[in-house]
Amino acid sequence: MTGNRNVGGGRGRPPLRLLLPGTLILVLLAIQFVPVSRTNPPAADGPVVGADVGGLLRRACYDCHSFETRWPWYSRIAPMSWLVAGHVNEGRAHLNFSRWPALDFALEDEFLRQIAAEVKSGRMPPDSYKLLHPEARLGESERNLLIRWAGGGISP
Ligand code: HEC
Repeated sequence: MTGNRNVGGGRGRPPLRLLLPGTLILVLLAIQFVPVSRTNPPAADGPVVGADVGGLLRRACYDCHSFETRWPWYSRIAPMSWLVAGHVNEGRAHLNFSRWPALDFALEDEFLRQIAAEVKSGRMPPDSYKLLHPEARLGESERNLLIRWAGGGISP
């Protein structure tokens, strides 16, 4: 009576409650093999600035806007790796301090104008980044310092 529940099927098939986590684990393992571009090509020095401005740029911007990215441990694990690499590659495509010496003055000026605008509006560094990198949060005086530098036009 009660011992007959297996008759007619179910044998050899894993129960549903194991199938779901098992599939999830397999998918998580499989996506680790998707290649991610996580490079740090040779970097030229950034703009010529004082140590104070330079320190702020390195603290709050260089991870995404230079070839001197400090790749965190979670940037090695998919799917976070895709998000981090996406941010870095997109950030570098817009503005790359490691390519600064190769820019002409007009472009430098345009970037400085953009930097001042982004810092003034608080859009940069992005909120999601500040969440995981509290050291990148800028105080008001630090933001003002960056805005004054960038708003001043072409760097000397
Ligand atoms: C987590 C990565 C990350 C950090 C850190 C970061 N940025 Fe960005 N930044 C991006 C991405 C991605 C874009 C392109 C998409 C966008 O505009 O949102 C961008 C775009 C920009 C642009 C171009 C905006 C435009 O009008 O095209 C400027 C200027 C900029 N960032 C300045 C900064 C400055 C200055 C800092 C530091 C105070 C900083 N960013 C920190 C990721 C980052």
